[in-house]
Amino acid sequence: MHPRIRKPLLQLARRSIQDPSASVVLNRYHEHFCTWNAERLGISREESVERFIRSSRSVRGGHRGSAFRVFAEVSHSVFEVFAGDTPSEVWEAYRLHEKVHFLRLLSYREPQWDNSHPVVAALGDTASVTIVDFGCGLAQYSVSLAEKLSADGREVKLLVADIPTLHLTFLAWLLARLGIDFEVRECTPEAPIPELLPCDVLIAREFLEHVHRPVEYLDAFDRVVKPGGVMIADLSDHRHEFMHVSPNLEAARRHVASLGYTPLGRPGIMQKLGAARERAPF
Ligand SMILES: C[S@@+](CC[C@H](N)C(=O)[O-])C[C@H]1O[C@@H](n2cnc3c(N)ncnc32)[C@H](O)[C@@H]1O
Repeated sequence: MHPRIRKPLLQLARRSIQDPSASVVLNRYHEHFCTWNAERLGISREESVERFIRSSRSVRGGHRGSAFRVFAEVSHSVFEVFAGDTPSEVWEAYRLHEKVHFLRLLSYREPQWDNSHPVVAALGDTASVTIVDFGCGLAQYSVSLAEKLSADGREVKLLVADIPTLHLTFLAWLLARLGIDFEVRECTPEAPIPELLPCDVLIAREFLEHVHRPVEYLDAFDRVVKPGGVMIADLSDHRHEFMHVSPNLEAARRHVASLGYTPLGRPGIMQKLGAARERAPF
């Protein structure tokens, strides 16, 4: 192609992908990330914020948008030559793609909690609550729940488990900064399901489709959920994509039902049968 034609085409392609003047609003996770990244890199916080904003503007719609999703898909496809998502390679693939995933995880929103939420209602008046968040990502769901329960005067312990990539290092820093009583478990090929704690709430959101043997994970979760406790796990089928290694969760759905969990009124929220706690009124 003639260089005079190539240049306008490149400019057109760049304009369709990038949005250099997009307004970027930082949420509290972004703010903490910029502080952590400034410390990590030994740069000023202002420079760290500027870099984050530049990164966000590099793809139309920012790290949350569909252009970023396409960017991640292309990256998965380009680098699959080094690591695929087979049982033996998937751990390496998570390390390979850790920074793309980290930025995507940072774009997740924190949910709002109130006393009518089925998880809060199911806890009744339990004074001391242990939450396990497996495949936690940046744990927006469990962190916000832990903060809500603490604000209500309960004692809360949060255990987070994930593959030890950069986002888990940041999460440990963040939990310490937020003053949450927490423990971190690293999931590795040698110990894919590390020892967990008996818990009142087990969270495994957007997780089961990522593992090759979801039923084994459900069994491990069931062993630690206390009678009357809550499990939060997406059991609907997922679209086929890289790292969705178990997109069909039919066996997992049947297994959870056989373990004696009943739906709590919202998709993916289930209560374990048991007498330890009054059943929630749903
Ligand atoms: C789509 S993200 C969901 C993150 C989080 N649960 C949420 O809802 O925000 C999937 C998460 O599962 C983690 N993950 C994938 N395979 C895993 C494994 N075998 N053991 C532990 N974590 C895993 C990934 O690192 C990632 O953080």
